[in-house]
Amino acid sequence: MKEIKSFNKPIYITRPLLPPLNEVYKKIKEIWESKWLTNFGQQHKTFELELKKYLKVKNLSLFCNGTLALQLACQALELTGEVITTPFTFPATINSLYQNNITPIFCDIKLDDFNINPDEIENLITPNTSALMPVHVFGNPCDVEKIDNIAKKYSLKVIYDSAHCFGVEYKGKAIGTFGDVNMFSFHATKIFHTLEGGALTYNDEKFNLKFFLLKNFGIKGEEDIFLPGTNAKMNEIQAAIGLLNLNLVDEEIEKRKKLTKIYKVNLKDIIGIRFLEENKEVIYNYQYFPILIDEFEFSLNRDQVYEEMKKYNVFTRKYFYPICTQYKYYPCKDADNFPNAEKIANEILCLPIYGELMEEDILKICEILLYLKKE
Ligand SMILES: Cc1ncc(COP(=O)(O)O)c(C=O)c1O
Repeated sequence: MKEIKSFNKPIYITRPLLPPLNEVYKKIKEIWESKWLTNFGQQHKTFELELKKYLKVKNLSLFCNGTLALQLACQALELTGEVITTPFTFPATINSLYQNNITPIFCDIKLDDFNINPDEIENLITPNTSALMPVHVFGNPCDVEKIDNIAKKYSLKVIYDSAHCFGVEYKGKAIGTFGDVNMFSFHATKIFHTLEGGALTYNDEKFNLKFFLLKNFGIKGEEDIFLPGTNAKMNEIQAAIGLLNLNLVDEEIEKRKKLTKIYKVNLKDIIGIRFLEENKEVIYNYQYFPILIDEFEFSLNRDQVYEEMKKYNVFTRKYFYPICTQYKYYPCKDADNFPNAEKIANEILCLPIYGELMEEDILKICEILLYLKKE
């Protein structure tokens, strides 16, 4: 097989959506003229309304980032004691619990979708359990029916970490309508972003006031302070970028869908590489393209592939390695009891995917992978 030349420019895991600069200038001009930079200005108001429509949810509250939104969701639901969650996630999920003095109780994941295994949740419930915090990893919905049934049976709250789920639907329902609260992240690396940012969605409108107070120092009006809130407001520039990106996100999802198909067609016959099967009842956003590398079948392990790809100027990511039970500050005694999460964390590699990537770039990445296997 002929040697493959490296890319002449770095191919990163993702590139942010960038609205045309002239539109950004126009928005900045509007904001400058209003002299209203933050604290629920016009951009914020419009963005909240438009986003609610886009995400097909009843209630929505904007935040300066997803992590603080998640932390404040725990406070709004008055969670205490223990919360059952997944070890296969980004640290923010787990840290939001620690930040509230809640103990994370980890439940292993399923090998087919990398999400929390609902069949193992009930064994972990104790009198101290106050909630479940599942993560829809890579935008793949969890088994929401089973999870919600368990929550009802034991009177537990459910906060879904939907950081990867912008626009995802399951069985014709928007993902942000499941559970008590859903958190979306609008970080620049996400398919839809507001530079930094996040939102909570929820069915019960009583949380509108609670979230407003929690993100606004507990202050309503000028002199009434109701609770010891923090500052987690989204500012006007973030909201304006959100409005501009809302115009672009459908096209971005379409482009990524096409690129995903090209990856799949070209990787499906490489022994030792596996990827997630699509569920026909899900509308995906194609934010990530994760593959699993079986070191025995592929002949290189995931870390070797990760390093080798760099030599070709391709920068993949090991989302999510290490698993959360391996963090130094995690005090769990049986940190090795999560065989599925460990296996996936050791085999996972997220390949570059973003709308600007060309079909030939994807073909070349697949060619490199094939070449590495044959080497
Ligand atoms: C699963 C998950 N949860 C939470 C977060 C935190 O969101 P943010 O970066 O908006 O604070 C992220 C990513 O950033 C994430 O991937």
